[in-house]
Amino acid sequence: MNYKLINMKVFGDERGKLISLEGNKNIPFDIKRVYYIYDTIPDFERGKHAHKNLEQIIVAMDGSCQFVLDDGEKREEVWLNRPDIGLYIGKNMWREMRHFSYGCKLMVLASEHYNEKEYIRDYQKFLGSIKND
Ligand code: TYD
Repeated sequence: MNYKLINMKVFGDERGKLISLEGNKNIPFDIKRVYYIYDTIPDFERGKHAHKNLEQIIVAMDGSCQFVLDDGEKREEVWLNRPDIGLYIGKNMWREMRHFSYGCKLMVLASEHYNEKEYIRDYQKFLGSIKND
């Protein structure tokens, strides 16, 4: 399974906490894009796609949600609910996000610019693309 949870170093004192994310240092790729998801509600699922060439780190800045990660053979569930843990998702991983808390805030760091052509949004096509690798 091409994913892992990364514990971020926290600089904390009586004023609060700070986490620094740097490309090719504690983030294992060059960061080309940042996007965030907010104003979520529990009723809807998101994601349901894979990427051939994209790596991402996702952090739940506030609230929680569940990720389903699938490499075509195995399916695993991971909860994101802390701002000091990043979920790294590598190439060729199907992901679904669900069970969002109200107002969950997800920040996503990505290794590539947005390119819709690079998305695989059909699960059967995803399975086919894995076999052809
Ligand atoms: P979508 O892929 O449905 O979000 P997710 O699967 O991560 O929940 O994206 C929602 C819309 O936002 C869709 O029209 C594409 C657009 N979008 C961009 O324009 N740039 C981006 O970097 C991303 C992630 C999405």
